[in-house]
Amino acid sequence: MNSLSLERELFGRRFQNPLLLAAGTAGFGRELNGVLRLDRLGGIITKAVSLQPRHGNAPPRVAEFTGGMLNSIGLANPGVESVRREALPWLSTHLTRAHILVNVVGFTVEEYAEVVRRLDGAPRITGFELNLSCPNTSAGGIEFGADSGCVQRIVAACRQRTKLPIVAKLSPLLPDIGGMAVVARDAGADAVSAVNTIPGILYGNTGEARLGHGSGGVSATQPASSLEDRTGEEPEM
Ligand SMILES: Cc1cc2nc3c(=O)[nH]c(=O)nc-3n(C[C@H](O)[C@H](O)[C@H](O)COP(=O)(O)O)c2cc1C
Repeated sequence: MNSLSLERELFGRRFQNPLLLAAGTAGFGRELNGVLRLDRLGGIITKAVSLQPRHGNAPPRVAEFTGGMLNSIGLANPGVESVRREALPWLSTHLTRAHILVNVVGFTVEEYAEVVRRLDGAPRITGFELNLSCPNTSAGGIEFGADSGCVQRIVAACRQRTKLPIVAKLSPLLPDIGGMAVVARDAGADAVSAVNTIPGILYGNTGEARLGHGSGGVSATQPASSLEDRTGEEPEM
């Protein structure tokens, strides 16, 4: 590796550069084919995969504001079986150098583990990223990632289903994100990714929420301080 090389090593694997497209920003790759050369990336993290297909939230699902955007896609995806049969084979034949990580969601601990079990061994998958910012339906909809016991159980259950690297994706809302990273590591995660979007809401001129779902996740491209003279456009967080 020379001094100009962008190569990185992660999980004992060589990445040709440190650029990985974040989950949900590139679908399952096919959506960006022809827009950029996917195989030049360090890797792609797929859209979230759930056990059952999900239609996602009511439109509009994204809204821009000066300095960023808000999204509430609602984890729309065709479900694990369709992803295994169609999306992943496409990715694995079109990407020969970039790594493929599969982003996994569930609404119970067992759903996470089952998605991992069904995709373990699919060709060319480097590992799994667990989206822990998902509502726990058996605990009144509180995010799994906010509860260290849930994080521990999800990571441990997935660890039992695969030998591939597991990345625990943490919520930005945690009071002690470092502590949660340790919980994930001790349960068997190989890495953590930081962070999911920050919850927010954006109102239109007439006071109604601009997203169909109401609230969403904020992606900021400019610091809030540079938006001071744009009151009314920035989301409430
Ligand atoms: C349109 C869109 C869809 C997303 N879908 C997912 C997803 O399916 N799973 C997930 O873990 N994160 C998802 N994310 C979160 C991103 O992967 C990333 O963590 C987040 O946008 C924070 O990075 P940013 O501040 O650079 O936007 C999504 C983000 C966007 C903008």
